Amino acid sequence: MRAHHWIATGPNGIADFQFVESEVAEPGPGEVTITVQASGVNPADLKHPGRATVFPVSIGYEVAGTITALGPETEIASGGGAIGDAVLAFRVTGGWASILTVPADTVFARPQNLGAAQAANLLLVATTAADLLRVAKVESGETVVVFGASGSVGVSLLQIARSRGIRVVGVCSANRVDEVARFGGVAIERGQAPSELAERIALAAADPIAAVFDASGRDDDIAAALAVAGNHDRMVTIVGTDVAKDAGFQFIGGVAPENAAYRASVRAELIDMAARGDLVVPVSETFVLRQALDALDLVSSGRAGGKVALVPDSNDV
Ligand SMILES: NC(=O)c1ccc[n+]([C@@H]2O[C@H](COP(=O)([O-])OP(=O)(O)OC[C@H]3O[C@@H](n4cnc5c(N)ncnc54)[C@H](OP(=O)(O)O)[C@@H]3O)[C@@H](O)[C@H]2O)c1
Repeated sequence: MRAHHWIATGPNGIADFQFVESEVAEPGPGEVTITVQASGVNPADLKHPGRATVFPVSIGYEVAGTITALGPETEIASGGGAIGDAVLAFRVTGGWASILTVPADTVFARPQNLGAAQAANLLLVATTAADLLRVAKVESGETVVVFGASGSVGVSLLQIARSRGIRVVGVCSANRVDEVARFGGVAIERGQAPSELAERIALAAADPIAAVFDASGRDDDIAAALAVAGNHDRMVTIVGTDVAKDAGFQFIGGVAPENAAYRASVRAELIDMAARGDLVVPVSETFVLRQALDALDLVSSGRAGGKVALVPDSNDV
């Protein structure tokens, strides 16, 4: 069986991305072949090949689709699994594909209330958001501040925090205030100067600020964060700019063993939350798989206004 997929042949960004066709591996023991209905798009799809040393890199960390084949004596992570079942998979390699074979322990039954585009975009951001709360040891009743709260990780964090009784002050652009409020955050739009922003955050928080999270990577956000952070041991960034690191933010990623293990362990809980309707995935746009570079352009701009999905069409299989 042949399928199309995206690879990066070098570290030079979109210029090195190629849409290629190759043979799909038959699933061995502990593997599952998925016919993809949607692939998630994340900023990491562009950033990570830029840091790679071995090429080609297969692009895409998450998909939703149906099971096409299972290896011998193989069950998916949520148990069972049969040809035709609707599933989602994370964290996979090469998810920007029409068909792919993945480890069965990345594959979960897809809740009926989740469309393919939502399911394909649920877990990378939600596991990251849950990891931020874990690393900063945030407990029910505490108040935290999230910079970049209207983004995809931010919106997941707002919902997970709400379900755990954690209060979130969310900093965002003026046109994204409604989105932060929709998911239970106390929305604060950026102002002119970091000091003025810090004052408004402190006023809105009212309670002591237990932790601050950087999901925007903006220097002005880091300056405001430093001004409001009560405990500098609980400042965490997922963007990891030099400015944030120099300011004392802890940088977390999905590859370090502790973070990877936690993010894998929390997937089932987050899928259950989504099945109950307590964790929704706002999808702003879909592109056909062949047009993935347009999707990546949009996502990398930080202006997608929601998650973006890739959908294979009949020419891609
Ligand atoms: N380390 C990890 O494990 C990990 C995991 C997932 C994502 N990330 C990183 O975390 C960041 C957020 O990811 P995401 O999926 O939430 O992205 P996203 O959906 O694009 O959200 C980012 C938000 O940041 C704000 N922003 C402000 N200025 C920006 C700028 N110059 N460029 C981009 N965004 C800007 C935007 O909201 P406003 O306009 O309202 O400010 C935007 O909605 C990305 O840098 C991503 O690479 C890291």
